[in-house]
Amino acid sequence: MNDAMLKGRHVVVVGGTSGIGLAVARYVARAGAEVTIVGRDAERLRHAAEEIGGARQCVGDLHQSEAFGRLFGSLPEIDHVVVTAGTASLKTLRESTAEDLRAAVEERLVGPLSVVRAALDRLRPTGSIVLTSGLLAERPTHRGAILAGAVAAIEAIARSLALELAPIRVNAVSPGLVDTPLLDGFFGDAKHEALASAAASLPTGRIGRPDDIAQAVGLLLTGGFITGEVLHVDGGGRLV
Ligand SMILES: NC(=O)c1ccc[n+]([C@@H]2O[C@H](COP(=O)([O-])OP(=O)(O)OC[C@H]3O[C@@H](n4cnc5c(N)ncnc54)[C@H](OP(=O)(O)O)[C@@H]3O)[C@@H](O)[C@H]2O)c1
Repeated sequence: MNDAMLKGRHVVVVGGTSGIGLAVARYVARAGAEVTIVGRDAERLRHAAEEIGGARQCVGDLHQSEAFGRLFGSLPEIDHVVVTAGTASLKTLRESTAEDLRAAVEERLVGPLSVVRAALDRLRPTGSIVLTSGLLAERPTHRGAILAGAVAAIEAIARSLALELAPIRVNAVSPGLVDTPLLDGFFGDAKHEALASAAASLPTGRIGRPDDIAQAVGLLLTGGFITGEVLHVDGGGRLV
């Protein structure tokens, strides 16, 4: 991987205030990139920018995707867009209301696609896009059908856009279990126990750290011959 290729590049991270997105923003900033982070809350953006050591901050919400045109219109030319933003509430289909289903599609599909569409006029042809899928696309869990379908669709979208938007490269990263604030909501009080048990079952003997995924995203951003790829970074989670 040639991190020097990120020096002076403009990287937009949608979801850059926490967890994997924050790690990606930190990673590319350390490699000398100019970073823009997007999230829903100005205060969280400010904290994240401090942690990164400086970043342009934009308030944006995947549930208000029509606003991304204005957001991207206000930015200078872009080299790379990384979309990690997302929440994860698990419900059975029976528990889910029609509004839950619409909200999931809005956040997981309409939102990321709107980000990409809004970015197109600003993206350099030498640039790339990284979307975020997840282990659920391949390893089902109870109460995860909607999320599993949405992240599997993201993988198909990445492959399709790799053709449609060429020479801009489009890839997806698929994390396994990664210790981020997202998992607090997932596991609640049982988080520590659940993660220890998951770690013991993995070939790597540990669950992921946000930096593991950031490093993989770095590879996708700088790998000029990689497009239409789904990079699984799951500690072998698909194998067990
Ligand atoms: N952690 C895992 O084990 C794991 C496994 C597989 C896949 N993933 C996927 O990886 C991605 C990142 O997860 P994470 O673990 O890093 O989660 P996280 O720590 O909770 O961070 C989520 C990020 O998404 C942003 N966000 C959430 N909803 C948003 C919305 N409607 N509009 C704009 N930004 C929004 C949050 O920003 P604000 O709250 O500041 O708006 C935050 O920056 C998610 O798509 C998740 O599904 C995670």
